[in-house]
Amino acid sequence: MNMSDNNLMEKIVSLAKRRGFIFPGSEIYGGLKGTWDYGPLGAELKFNIKQEWWKAMVKNRDDVVGMSASIIMNPKVWEASGHVAGFNDPLIECKTCHQRFRADQEDIIAEHEKLHKEKKEKTDWTEEKKFNLLVEVKLGAVEGEKNTAYLRGEITQGVHVNFKNILNSSRLKIPFGIAQIGKAFRNEITPGNFTYRSIEFEQMELQYYVKPDEKKSMEYYEFWKNFRMDWYKLLGINSDNLRFREHQKNELAHYAKAAWDIEYKTPFGWKECEGIHHRGDWDLSQHQKFSGQDMSYFDEETKEKYLPWVIETSGGVDRAALFFLIDAYYEEKDPAKNGASRIVLKLNSKLAPYKAAVFPLLANKPELVKRAREIYDDLRKDFMVAWDDRGNIGKRYYSQDEIGTLFCITIDFQTLEDNTVTVRDRDTMKQERIEIKDLSQYLVKKL
Ligand code: GAP
Repeated sequence: MNMSDNNLMEKIVSLAKRRGFIFPGSEIYGGLKGTWDYGPLGAELKFNIKQEWWKAMVKNRDDVVGMSASIIMNPKVWEASGHVAGFNDPLIECKTCHQRFRADQEDIIAEHEKLHKEKKEKTDWTEEKKFNLLVEVKLGAVEGEKNTAYLRGEITQGVHVNFKNILNSSRLKIPFGIAQIGKAFRNEITPGNFTYRSIEFEQMELQYYVKPDEKKSMEYYEFWKNFRMDWYKLLGINSDNLRFREHQKNELAHYAKAAWDIEYKTPFGWKECEGIHHRGDWDLSQHQKFSGQDMSYFDEETKEKYLPWVIETSGGVDRAALFFLIDAYYEEKDPAKNGASRIVLKLNSKLAPYKAAVFPLLANKPELVKRAREIYDDLRKDFMVAWDDRGNIGKRYYSQDEIGTLFCITIDFQTLEDNTVTVRDRDTMKQERIEIKDLSQYLVKKL
């Protein structure tokens, strides 16, 4: 990826559409601003991201369990959590064209003013108002008697309201965490930058409950901050494109005692990828107050009873998918092809939608197709594998490079004689002959 490429975002958006990663939502009806649909490869990429997250955050840990809460909750949850009163963005409206903007997005506002200036118009703005981001839904079968509820604005509250359920149904002892992945919804004033700011998106979050203690809780905070940063690096994001940024006191969310973002260097600037928040006892104490239920933890050993504090790691699956795509995008010269250039997605092997692609050299030779099909069916039992029998082999290589397929396996006439195939590596473009019986092991080792 070359960040100085001004058209990089256009290229990513175009590749995403052309190859079936991401499409504009409801496109045949003119779309719906801030919504996106994931095609076959995008769904696979997102699935792999979530699986790696779940492995690192739940499966490989003794102190974290997972859960999956309902998207629609009792509206009192959102009063208690502070979202009804405090989940606001500052909104201003252009008096000339009545477009609405977030008052804190200075670059977008400046661009809008420039647009009017070019048309020799002046831009007057309305007073700043608070705009609540919760998306309302109407529930109930009787028209006129429907109740307002909300689609969850963060997946977090589903975990906190179940704190006691999980505690009582497991043998967890503090410190421990509850992890969840799921959709959240926000009535964003200015969705944009492709999927970066959408109105419907997926979050992957950990709520880690600790004993109330300033010093110790900050140690857990530091641990999770670094753990999350390392996760992105281990999955292949170039460390030069990642950094931490601390929230200033005036940007802290209503629940946060401290907040740091993990930011990624996108072609549209350094942008938030994930937030690590010290939520103190905000959530549990609010739910205790509003529900009248005891939300405290009892320590059997010390006989202490307290409301735990929460360290939260909150990442976006869609943002991660976008940043992994941007980071993996390369345009390169192919030395074997007299300087012809190829587009290649150098996605980490754990994230690439296809681990391998199988090609019969010629699609009109039944004996090659039959042998290739056998190999394809065999590999499919263990790996996500693509099949391609169109056009010449060179074109098939480029087509697979563009979607990040790690290995291309070609079945040719020699295969029929000696049971070997050609395996071509996405990144080095080197080819080697491998015996069919060793193929599976070869892939396991390489992946
Ligand atoms: N529970 C804490 C929380 O929701 P947040 O910083 O508002 O914190 C966490 O959101 C993450 O969710 C962000 O870092 C981002 O990855 C993702 N996210 C938030 N709003 C988003 C949006 N409008 N579109 C896409 N992803 C979003």
